[in-house]
Amino acid sequence: MISWKRTIECGLVDEKLLGKEVTLNGWVARRRDHGGLIFIDLRDRTGLMQIVFNPDFNKDVHAQAHSLRSEFVLSVTGKVVNRAKETVNEKMPTGKWEIQVEKLTILNESKTLPFPLDESEVIEEELRLRYRYLDLRKFSMQQRLAMRSMVTFAMREFFLTKGFFEIETPILTKNTPEGAREFLVPSRINQGSFYALPQSPQIYKQLLMAGGMERYFQVARCFRDEDLRADRQPEFTQLDVEMSFVEQDDVRAVIEQMFVHVFKKVFNIDITLPFPTLTYDQAFGVYGSDKPDLRYGMIIHEVSHLFAGTELSFLKAVLDKGGKVGAIRVEDKEFTRSELDGWVNKAQELGSKGLLYVRWSKDGILESPVAKFLPADFFEQASKQFKDLKKTDTLFFIAGPYKAAWETLGRFRCAMAESLKMINPHIINLCWIVDFPLFEYDEETKSFNSMHHPFTTPQEGWQTLKPEEMKAQAYDIVCNGMELGGGSIRIHNREKQAKIFELLGLTKEETDDKFGFLLEALEYGFPPHGGIALGIDRMLMILTGSSSIREVIAFPKNQRGYDPMMQAPTPADPKNLKECGIAIVKKDKK
Ligand code: AMO
Repeated sequence: MISWKRTIECGLVDEKLLGKEVTLNGWVARRRDHGGLIFIDLRDRTGLMQIVFNPDFNKDVHAQAHSLRSEFVLSVTGKVVNRAKETVNEKMPTGKWEIQVEKLTILNESKTLPFPLDESEVIEEELRLRYRYLDLRKFSMQQRLAMRSMVTFAMREFFLTKGFFEIETPILTKNTPEGAREFLVPSRINQGSFYALPQSPQIYKQLLMAGGMERYFQVARCFRDEDLRADRQPEFTQLDVEMSFVEQDDVRAVIEQMFVHVFKKVFNIDITLPFPTLTYDQAFGVYGSDKPDLRYGMIIHEVSHLFAGTELSFLKAVLDKGGKVGAIRVEDKEFTRSELDGWVNKAQELGSKGLLYVRWSKDGILESPVAKFLPADFFEQASKQFKDLKKTDTLFFIAGPYKAAWETLGRFRCAMAESLKMINPHIINLCWIVDFPLFEYDEETKSFNSMHHPFTTPQEGWQTLKPEEMKAQAYDIVCNGMELGGGSIRIHNREKQAKIFELLGLTKEETDDKFGFLLEALEYGFPPHGGIALGIDRMLMILTGSSSIREVIAFPKNQRGYDPMMQAPTPADPKNLKECGIAIVKKDKK
């Protein structure tokens, strides 16, 4: 019997093993036949090792090796020898050596794969997901998942050594309204009733504080039935944290220290504290977003005054209605006419009714579709707003109601930065956004929604303000233009919580039905508390420089929320449906 228990992994073979016998297990990554010799790159998750079958050395094993094909699973035993000088591969960590095979066990065979595992080939994502177990054999996937494992390990290490308990909370639960639609799970025992899968462990973690746990964290699975994007999955993972007897600064300091620990541990990088902090109003005013990308400038300037008294009818109409004009300056870039037309179209795509631009010709003459409506000293006037304005710069203007215009300018800024390759992908820029509005007004339903969630404490003085003026004790952590996490100081007083539900338009009956248990708990010595949750998938997406969250999840859903490998979701077995008392109503064909 040949033992297939390995003595070393492929990528770990080194000089110290020269002349020694080793046993390796792995997959055939590549096979070459050269003048009677058969060379195989054997792969396991640590790397590649070249193994050689030489008829002069062992005829039988060499004959056996003829049947080997890509992705066969092997166990080989042989001596580690130096490669001939001219065949040394400097690019391969084990490229100086090879294994002269004496024993070969074919542990399994493989059909030809539906796609090559060559990293340089671009494979359609649907195919990759259909055969995810093959896709996972790529080093890039293995590295990303290894990094994910190291990051969550370092997070756990940090919190456990700081006196936090990791506590699991239920997956079958009642809805926790945080804005997203929930997945429902029918109950067989309580027919007609449904559990909801948690959007986050929000209420449970608060109740853990009521339970005196004081410091909680969890690497928690969350479920949201929302439209999917590159940074969203229907099921994802949060680092969820809650602490008693804390204020905002305490929570933020703990998270900053956790980042220091994780970056040191995983990447050996020292990061500087504290992270910059912007208020929501500052971020929105300067970047047109509450998740600004601070890796580049090109900020938004309010320039309504440059157009006061303008004869341009649409600008005049905007300003008369209290709207504003915002501008973005692109320095030292000579746009062609068709590029400028392209940006006008882009601005429309991004939600603006129009985009004006102003630039100067080589002779310093102002060029703009609205040049004749601009004053002769426009450059001088604009120079007061834009420091060191040059005639090689281009100014882009968007006008409209403040919120809408600034949101478009924010998107325009990102699109422009991307197009001009201003974004350094190697920088990780973390910042805090604070002082969020407590509510946002929904024009459609004509009601207020919580900007974070209904359990967020309003800032001092809220009782005397209108809902749209109230600010929250809430904070988001933003990384490279993406919301990485959010949290708040929670309400721990029954009356205050009931009042917030009332402002959200909930009737007393609705409040009792949905949150009666929470209001009751608030009457039994609930401590002051606060916390935060960070999206682990998003964090890994940024850390690995991936373009989609799916690259850092072993088995993700596709953009339609479908798993092409397991083929889920599927219609349920009628027997199961009957047990749960569920009948499927077919959608009317229109
Ligand atoms: P929030 O809803 O802001 O807060 O979520 C926190 C973080 O979770 C990540 N995230 C997602 N990641 C992938 N796919 C999704 N569909 C998805 N949705 C959210 C984001 C986000 O910043 N309970 C509160 C936190 C708290 O107040 O403590 C909460 O869940 O990175």
